[in-house]
Amino acid sequence: MLRAVVGLAGLVSCATAQSNSVKVKWLEDTPEYLAGVTFGLPWPRGQHLGNATTFTASGDAQLQSWATAYWPDGSLKWTGHALAASDSPATEYTITASGPGNSTLSRLRRQKNGIQVSDSGDEVVVNTGKVTATFPKSGSTLVSSIKTGSKIVGKNGRLILRSQTGTPDDDADGKPTGIDYFSFSSKVSNVTVSEDNTARSLVTVQGIHTIDGDGAHKDWFPFTVRFYLYANSEAIRIIHTIIYDGDMTKDFISGIGIRFDVPLAGEEFYDRHIRIAGVDGGLLHEAVQGITGLRRDPGEAVRSGQYNGTLLPNATAWDQRVTSRLQWVPTWSDYRLTQLSSDGFNLKKRTKTGQSWVKIPGGTRSGGLAYLGGATVGGLALGLRDFWKKYPTSLDISNGATDTGSITLWLYSPQAGPMDIRPFHDGLGQDTYAKQLDALDITYEDYEAGYNTPYGVGRTNELYLYAFDSTPTADKLSTLTNYTNNPPVLIPEPEYIRDSKAIGAYWDVPGAVDSAAARKIESNMDFLIKFYESQVEQRRWYGFWDHGDIIHTYDDDRHQWRYDIGGYGWDNSELSPDLFFWGYFLRTGRADAYRLAHDQVRHGGEVDSYHLGNFTGLGTRHGVQHWGDSAKQARIATPVYRKTFYYISGGDERTGDLVHEVLDVDKAFVLVDARRKVRAANVVYKPDPEALYLNFGTDWAGIAQAYLIEWERRGPRWEEARDKLIEAIKTYPKLKNGFVTGEALYNSLTGAWSPPPTDPSNSGNVTVSHLSGVFGVLETIDQVIEHFGPAAQNTTKPFFDAFLEYCYFYGASKAEQKDRYGKDFGNLNLKQGHSRYTAYVAHHRSNATLVPRVWSEYLGDGSKDGLAPNAPWKTERISGSDVLIPVDEAIWVSTNAAALYGVAGIESLALVGAPDVNIVGQNTTAKRAVKWNAKKAA
Ligand SMILES: *[C@@H]1O[C@H](CO)[C@@H](O)[C@H](O)[C@H]1NC(C)=O
Ligand SMILES: *[C@@H]1O[C@H](CO)[C@@H](O)[C@H](O)[C@H]1NC(C)=O
Ligand SMILES: *[C@@H]1O[C@H](CO)[C@@H](O)[C@H](O)[C@H]1NC(C)=O
Ligand SMILES: *[C@@H]1O[C@H](CO)[C@@H](O)[C@H](O)[C@H]1NC(C)=O
Ligand SMILES: *[C@@H]1O[C@H](CO)[C@@H](O)[C@H](O)[C@H]1NC(C)=O
Ligand SMILES: *[C@@H]1O[C@H](CO)[C@@H](O)[C@H](O)[C@H]1NC(C)=O
Repeated sequence: MLRAVVGLAGLVSCATAQSNSVKVKWLEDTPEYLAGVTFGLPWPRGQHLGNATTFTASGDAQLQSWATAYWPDGSLKWTGHALAASDSPATEYTITASGPGNSTLSRLRRQKNGIQVSDSGDEVVVNTGKVTATFPKSGSTLVSSIKTGSKIVGKNGRLILRSQTGTPDDDADGKPTGIDYFSFSSKVSNVTVSEDNTARSLVTVQGIHTIDGDGAHKDWFPFTVRFYLYANSEAIRIIHTIIYDGDMTKDFISGIGIRFDVPLAGEEFYDRHIRIAGVDGGLLHEAVQGITGLRRDPGEAVRSGQYNGTLLPNATAWDQRVTSRLQWVPTWSDYRLTQLSSDGFNLKKRTKTGQSWVKIPGGTRSGGLAYLGGATVGGLALGLRDFWKKYPTSLDISNGATDTGSITLWLYSPQAGPMDIRPFHDGLGQDTYAKQLDALDITYEDYEAGYNTPYGVGRTNELYLYAFDSTPTADKLSTLTNYTNNPPVLIPEPEYIRDSKAIGAYWDVPGAVDSAAARKIESNMDFLIKFYESQVEQRRWYGFWDHGDIIHTYDDDRHQWRYDIGGYGWDNSELSPDLFFWGYFLRTGRADAYRLAHDQVRHGGEVDSYHLGNFTGLGTRHGVQHWGDSAKQARIATPVYRKTFYYISGGDERTGDLVHEVLDVDKAFVLVDARRKVRAANVVYKPDPEALYLNFGTDWAGIAQAYLIEWERRGPRWEEARDKLIEAIKTYPKLKNGFVTGEALYNSLTGAWSPPPTDPSNSGNVTVSHLSGVFGVLETIDQVIEHFGPAAQNTTKPFFDAFLEYCYFYGASKAEQKDRYGKDFGNLNLKQGHSRYTAYVAHHRSNATLVPRVWSEYLGDGSKDGLAPNAPWKTERISGSDVLIPVDEAIWVSTNAAALYGVAGIESLALVGAPDVNIVGQNTTAKRAVKWNAKKAA
C-alpha cells in the first residue's frame, strides 16, 4: 500500500497531485453475487482536499464517491463509496484517491453513464440497467411499477398497517366487545432522489399511514422508506423506518406490512411458481397448479420442469390423460409462512378465501424470503434481513390464481395477535418521588407514571426486493436469501483505520504490543464477544423490539438473566457495550463483533431512543421494557455508539437522521428535568435553554458528539455545531474545578458553560460520579480534540488539560484528591472501567510512573467490582431440570462489567502498552507511551 501523508501546509502549496490507495476487503467470504454495496473510508488529516479529489476502484469497478466527513482544514476525513452490482465481485478492491489535481473541479469527480434517473413533477423513475422502478410523489403507493426490460413484474408497492383499540385478553371468555379494528395504508408526503447516480441511486419516501375507507382514526405511524438501487442490479435494498406515535392504551398494532403486486395474467396456472425460503438455504418449491404426484403422469420433463420453475411444454404435448383433466386439479392461490417465535415457523396454503387452509410441513428458522412469479411473466422475490430474529413475522402470497397476485412481508405478523406495549405493571402505588426512589432500591427500576411510554420510539428494518423476468432457479433464490440476511460488507484494514485517527486515537490492533498478560486480556475479550453471541442465541434475545439488545444482569439462582426485574432487564447500552463491540470490530475486522455491534446500532438508535414528542433525542435507562424507565437521558441516545457504523457504512442515511435528533436534545433537556427526583431541597431549578443543569458526561457528551458529527459531515447546521463546541471548550475550563465540577449550567443557545446553581460564585464544586465517564465521554473528547487538531491547540489546551486532570484524579488516592480539591471524591467504583482514564493521562503526559496504576485498576484492586483476572473466564453448562433449555452460564459476568472490561482493555493496551510480568519496572510500557506521543505529534 502506497501512502503519502502530507501536512496541511504541504498540501496547500502542493503543485503535483497526491495519490494513495487503500485496500478494502469483505467482512466475510467474497460474495458469489453482488447487488451493489456502499462502504466508507477514513483519511488522515490534510491528505486530500475535499473539493479536489477523485477516486477510482481497481479492476475498473464502477465507483461512486462522496465525502461523508471533513477535517477542519477542509481535507477529507471520511468518504462514502458505492460499487455497482456484479456477478463476479473481486476478492478485494483498491480505492485510489488522487488530488489535489485540477482544483477547478468543485465536487468529487464522477464517472459517467450510471443509472438513469428522471425526476418529473409527479414521479421519480430509476433505471439501473436491469430494473426500472417508478416512485410516485403522492398517493398510497411507494413504488408504482417495477420493470425488467419492458415487462412489468411488480406493481403497487405499498405499506400496510392494522390496529385495534383493545386486546381480546382484556375481555372474558375470548369474546371481546367494544374493540374497533382499523386498517391503514401508506400516504406518501414527499419523495426525494439523490443527485449523484453513477453507481447508486437513493430514493427516499416519507409519509404516514392513513385509514382505509371512512374509519375514524387520525393519520399516524409516520414512515421513512429508503430505496437503494445500484447500477446493473436487479435488487432494491429497502430501509424501512417507522415511528410509534399512538396511544399505547388504545392503539394496539396488529400488523405492519409491505406489499407488492405481481401481474400474472396470461400465465398458465401450472407455470406460476411459489418459492418460500426455509432453513439453511432450503426452499419450498410449489406451483399454483401442481402437476406432480397426480394419479396420471404428464411426463417426466413436465414434472421436472415445473419443479425447476422452467416453462412447461404446451399441455397439448403432455400425456392427454392429464391434459384432459387439468380442470379437476385445484389451484392454490394463497400461501402463508408464519414465524411467531425464533424457534419455528408454520406454513399453510389454501385454494382461495372461504376454503380451508391445508398445512404444509414447517421448520425452524425461515430465511424470510418469498417469490411469486411465472415462467414467462416473471415476478418478484421479497425478503427481510433477520426475519426470524425479528419475530413475529410472516410472509403471505395471495391471489396467485388470479390475474394479480401479491407478496406481503409482515414485519409484525397479523397472526401474532395485537402488540401490547403498555407498561408491564400498574405503578404499584409509586405516586411520589420518595416511593419511586424506595422502589429503585429493591427492583432497581426508576419508575414514574407518564415516563414509561413507547410514544416516539422507532424501528428500522432492512428488506431486499429482487425482480426477475422469469422464475429464477432455486439456487439463485437460495443465494439471494443468504444475501438478504448477510448483505456483504466492505471494510478497510484495521491498521489503516487506526492510522487515519478519524475515529479515535485510543485503540490499536491486537498484538501491537505483545506479552503474556496482553495475550490473556485479548483472550478474555474474545471470550466476552463469543459469550454475548452465545447468550443472544441461548436466551433468545430476539423479537420485533428486542433484537439487537442484550440483558443487564444475571440471576444466579434461576440460571436466568434478569429479564423481568426492573432496572436489570434490557441493557439499553448501559456502560457502553456498543463501544466494546465496535472497538473490537475496528481493531480486528471480525465479522462476529460487527454483527453484534450492527444489530445494536439498529436497536439502540431506534427502540431505546425517542424520535418524536417531548423526549426526542433522549434515550431510556435500562429496564424490563426498552422504554419503561423514567430516566430519559442523552447518555443512551449518544451518537458515539453509532458513529463507527455511520462512517464505515458510507454514511447510512437513517443513522444520519438519528444524529440530527440528538443535535436537538437541548429542547428535551428543557422539558425533562433529569434531576427532578434527586435535587437538593435548597436548589430551585427553572429549566431554561440558556441555563440547563447538565452533567458533562451523561448529558453533554451526547450532544457534543452530535455537534462533532454535524461539524465533520458539514451538515446543514455544522457552523452552529462547531461554534457551540468551541464555546463549550473555552468556557468549561473556567469552572474552578474543571471536570470535577461534574454538573454545571449549560447555555444551549451558545454552548457556554457557567458555574452550577449550587456554586454561583465558582468557588469550586466537587461532584464526581462513577457514571459520568462511562458513556463514551473519553472517546468523544478524544475525537473532538483530535478533530480540532494541533492548529487549534490554543483553543483546546485548557479544556484538554482539565480533562486530563479528571483522568488523573478519578483513580488517585483520597489524599491526593483532597490535596488538590480540598475534598476527596468519596468511594467511587467502576475503577476497572476507569483504568482507561488513567491510561489516557499517562499516555498524553508521557507519564510512565502512572502505568502501574493503570494495570492495578484494571487487573488488581480496581477489578473487584469488574471482571477480575482470577474469574473463571469460562462458562458452565447447566442442563436438565435446573433450566428450561440447556444453557452456558457465567455468573461472574454482568453486562456493565463486560462492557467496561472490553472498552478499558482495548484502550489501555493501546495507550500504555501491555502489562508485563515485570510490572514494577515498566520499561517497555514507558517506551510505548513515548512512542505513541511521538507518533501523535508527527
Ligand atoms: C452467505 O453470505 C455470507 C456473506 O456474503 C458469506 O460469507 C457466506 O459464505 C454465505 N453463505 C452461503 C451458504 O452461501
Ligand atoms: C477548496 O477547498 C479549500 C479548502 O477548504 C479552499 O481553500 C479552496 O478555495 C477550495 N477550492 C475551490 C475551487 O472551491
Ligand atoms: C482543469 O479542468 C478544466 C475543465 O475540464 C480544463 O479546462 C483545464 O485545462 C484543466 N486545468 C488543468 C491545469 O489541468
Ligand atoms: C417530508 O415529510 C415529512 C413528514 O412526512 C416531513 O417531516 C419532512 O420534513 C418532509 N421533508 C421534506 C424534504 O419536505
Ligand atoms: C431440472 O433440474 C434438474 C437439476 O438441475 C435437471 O437435471 C433437469 O434436467 C431439469 N429439468 C428440466 C425439465 O429442465
Ligand atoms: C397450446 O397449443 C394449442 C394448440 O396448438 C394452442 O391453441 C394454444 O394456444 C397453445 N397454448 C399455449 C399456452 O401456447
